[in-house]
Amino acid sequence: MPKIEFLSDAKSIEIEEGESILQASLRAGIPHTHVCGGKARCTTCRILLIDGDENRLSPPGDEEYELVKKLGFAPNIRLACQSYVRDDIKIRRLVIDDNDIDLAMLKRSDDTGKFSSTGVETRVAILFTDIRDFTSFSDNQLPYDIIHMLNRYICQMRLIIERNNGEVFNYMGDGLMALFGVEKESWAIENAVRSGMEMLEAMDNMQPYLQETYGQGLQMGVGIHCGDVVIGSFEDSSNAMKMVIGDAVNFASRVESANKETGTKLLVSQTVFDRLKEKIQIGKTCSVELKGKSGEHQLYEVLSISD
Ligand code: FES
Repeated sequence: MPKIEFLSDAKSIEIEEGESILQASLRAGIPHTHVCGGKARCTTCRILLIDGDENRLSPPGDEEYELVKKLGFAPNIRLACQSYVRDDIKIRRLVIDDNDIDLAMLKRSDDTGKFSSTGVETRVAILFTDIRDFTSFSDNQLPYDIIHMLNRYICQMRLIIERNNGEVFNYMGDGLMALFGVEKESWAIENAVRSGMEMLEAMDNMQPYLQETYGQGLQMGVGIHCGDVVIGSFEDSSNAMKMVIGDAVNFASRVESANKETGTKLLVSQTVFDRLKEKIQIGKTCSVELKGKSGEHQLYEVLSISD
């Protein structure tokens, strides 16, 4: 008989004929949450398959399939009450205490979010921007003017990103982070670089307005990298926020800040360069140490990209 190892419960149990994972864990005395009693309605019995491919479990039935599709669960997250084990697996229960139950039920009552609260791993191109010397700019302006200028800037940048099939994921004061390839990976890197070039051009076009209105111009830096991230949503009772985490995100942010020391406007990582070297014209290449990363990293200044 196949075995299930429950990682955080430090228990290994042998499955009995015709038993679901939920039935097996309850039989073994594991306090496996199952608010709807195993009817494929609450998802509180959800488990994460840690070791063993998904074929070691029975495929999802119609009810489970519809529910997890609606909630955007990754294929390695299954409902224990609907899953039957075919071969040895290692799993972890995902709803452990009352706070987890509240979160799971909250998500059930408002499942309009585009991103799963359990997170999905995907490969994307990540673009960071930052306005140079924005603090000294703000010191000389009225609060109303600062907000107005930021609104104008962000509106233009967002339109460029969306026109290139990207999505703004986060605003950080005068900086933003956008992802390309969330829906579909193809062209993501090229779209990100094309966006970066168009954003710099838009910033150039804003200079007469900035000079006339605020008496000073502004410049921006763009950094682009590509890598694996986990995208999910975080929510409380009134808000749902998108979240993206991963080493690639930190790396992209550091690529952007390297513009300050290299005196460039748009830098891309080696990964991006390797994918686009036939299409982009580069200026400086530089080898920089990135804060929090060991060793030297090659970065490339992009001057233009062919159509
Ligand atoms: S116990 Fe409710 S979905 Fe499994």
